[in-house]
Amino acid sequence: MTHKTTRISGYKQILVNPKFRCLIPDYSIKLQNFASEIAHSITQKQKHIHPKFLYNDRGSKLFEKICELPEYYLTRTEISILSRLTSELSKYLKEHYRLVEFGSGSSTKTRKILDILCQSQEEVEYFSIDISNIIKESSRSLLQQYDNLYITGIIDRYEKGLEFIQTFDEQKKLIIFLGSSFGNFDADSGRDFLEKIHSTMNDNDFFLIGLDLVKDKKILESAYDDSQHITADFNLNLLSRINEELGANFILQNFEHYAVFNEKKSRMEMYLRSKTEQKVHISDLDLSLDFKKGELIHTENSYKYSISQIEQLADEVGFKITKLWQDENHHFAVVLLSKAKLSQHI
Ligand code: TRP
Repeated sequence: MTHKTTRISGYKQILVNPKFRCLIPDYSIKLQNFASEIAHSITQKQKHIHPKFLYNDRGSKLFEKICELPEYYLTRTEISILSRLTSELSKYLKEHYRLVEFGSGSSTKTRKILDILCQSQEEVEYFSIDISNIIKESSRSLLQQYDNLYITGIIDRYEKGLEFIQTFDEQKKLIIFLGSSFGNFDADSGRDFLEKIHSTMNDNDFFLIGLDLVKDKKILESAYDDSQHITADFNLNLLSRINEELGANFILQNFEHYAVFNEKKSRMEMYLRSKTEQKVHISDLDLSLDFKKGELIHTENSYKYSISQIEQLADEVGFKITKLWQDENHHFAVVLLSKAKLSQHI
């Protein structure tokens, strides 16, 4: 099948069918970004790799598996909260809302929201922003399920998605950011992201965010280091990517996944640890790396919040908590935010 393809700066816009268009960044730009970011981050004193690179096709499949692991309580807890809140949430979405999702992934949780919108509205526009190609598959299956749905998939970083929604008209919108993905930002960039979301919102818009809560260290650490080693494969996949895409010679058996809860900073920290002293060469970058035994490459942080931290953060950014839902174990929170009126935000 041939699809209508047009170009807008840096993107290929593919009209897959009248109900689904997809914006894909030019491949050369993508590869160039990967190369230059890795060249910078892997040569710092604390070697690191940005977590957005976890989600190539293989990584996205592994992450889907993580979401189903018995230890990874996050996904099923959030889904159970979303299933319970639908009737309450629908009260806030009485008029016509457009749906925008950051980090949509497989769009499993999105269905809980689409169940509401597609029932109450004649047509629903859904903008899904995700770094992974998975958007194409998940959109196909959503369109089979909801016949009044129109999807725009933007396969790119959150920042680019934000730029995109800045061009929207006045139509009311519900923005969702689930899966505790917000926890992967550090404090400054997280606040920056929230401020940008806030600035795109009008008075009747809503922002629904899923956040993981602080809990027992053992529960946290096993969620990020499961007994089937799927999480380890997911993390190590970063090194496979550098091997495949940048011609490196990382020997995967010489590295191991390491996940630890940093209580002071209230975050899970994920690393790849060098099991021996070794040298690695990345030929496309013309780079030689030295690793000491036990040396760490930082790959991800996942912040865990208390309710009071959530309240404080919302307040600082100028959001009002319209509603906060939790599961009975207080493991996870789903928060509905709207813009605080000036008088509420002092
Ligand atoms: N956003 C997920 C989280 O913070 C990502 C994630 C889950 C992850 N397990 C991981 C990232 C292991 C790196 C390593 O829960």
